[in-house]
Amino acid sequence: MQTILVTGAGGFLGSHLADRMLDAGWRPMLWARRPTPLLREQGTRGAMLCLASEMPDERWMAVLAEAGIVVHCAGVTHGPGEARYREGNERLTRRILARLRPGQKVILIGSQAAAGPGRADAPRKMEETPAPVSCYGHSKLAAEREVAHWNDSVILRCCALYGPRDRGFLPMFQAALQGLFFRLGREEQWLQMLDAGSAAQAVLQACSMPLAPGPWFVAPFRPVSMTGLRQALAAAVGRAALRDFRVPPALAGALAWGIGQGARLTGATPFLTPERLPDFLQPGWCCDAAPFVEATGWQPEVGLEEGLAATLAWYRRAGWLR
Ligand SMILES: NC(=O)c1ccc[n+]([C@@H]2O[C@H](COP(=O)([O-])OP(=O)(O)OC[C@H]3O[C@@H](n4cnc5c(N)ncnc54)[C@H](OP(=O)(O)O)[C@@H]3O)[C@@H](O)[C@H]2O)c1
Repeated sequence: MQTILVTGAGGFLGSHLADRMLDAGWRPMLWARRPTPLLREQGTRGAMLCLASEMPDERWMAVLAEAGIVVHCAGVTHGPGEARYREGNERLTRRILARLRPGQKVILIGSQAAAGPGRADAPRKMEETPAPVSCYGHSKLAAEREVAHWNDSVILRCCALYGPRDRGFLPMFQAALQGLFFRLGREEQWLQMLDAGSAAQAVLQACSMPLAPGPWFVAPFRPVSMTGLRQALAAAVGRAALRDFRVPPALAGALAWGIGQGARLTGATPFLTPERLPDFLQPGWCCDAAPFVEATGWQPEVGLEEGLAATLAWYRRAGWLR
């Protein structure tokens, strides 16, 4: 097995990638901006930690040169201000590519946000022209375009991910424990939700075999409606039902604006800001992952109900939820 370097290893998906690689007996190099107890533990399990506040960092150039495969997972997914998305997705990708040498393979952790939304009855397909709707989506598409120039590259566009260590879906669990379910927009929305363990396994598969550049969608087969998600969450938290609150688009816009302004003052990085709002208002985030499944044999490992229950159990064990 070639040496693998994972960028963004201190983040949600990056941490699962590191775990899976270690479980598989690999010895990944984990690139992160700051140490965490989990990274230290992964270090004791055989990972090499490359800590640097700036990436790429001159001190780690020799390490970067050793990597046969670079899994570029670092990226900016939320927070206020368009510039942060351009910097953390497009420019960071360009800087890393500028330091690689021919022969090194790059696997970009992309997002369906780069491709744009897809309705449940017309899931987005890999050959369709991208049509992102948010700053995040545009910056992820720009990162894809950087990587597309690299001669040995694979782009994996993941759907919405959830699981242990995820803060994105945490408020939904918090509300569910209070018997509440909030949704943005008036229409029923459909999305594909994948547990982070399965997503990480898809990346390991892409590391282990020759694969065309893609961009491949990585998602479970069946989408879930917001109504279905509400019911699944109710079951996970042991309630007969959750009270459904719909936040109309105009109110969602005002909320996102207020949250964004507050975040600029406090330095917080909330998930709902004007830069991400267009993503949250789409009627569907559905995509066709069949080509990836056919090419790799990958399958999601757990269904939504099981995944939500495991995530809730983890949040409780970790003290993130009571
Ligand atoms: N979560 C999802 O639902 C989802 C869905 C589709 C695709 N993705 C993609 O998956 C990847 C990981 O997302 P995630 O959910 O795991 O997000 P995350 O928890 O925020 O992790 C992102 C990681 O990237 C690092 N990072 C950000 N900007 C950086 C920079 N300029 N230099 C170095 N490191 C930087 C962060 O470092 P710090 O910890 O130091 O901030 C963090 O460790 C992203 O590329 C994202 O677009 C995520």
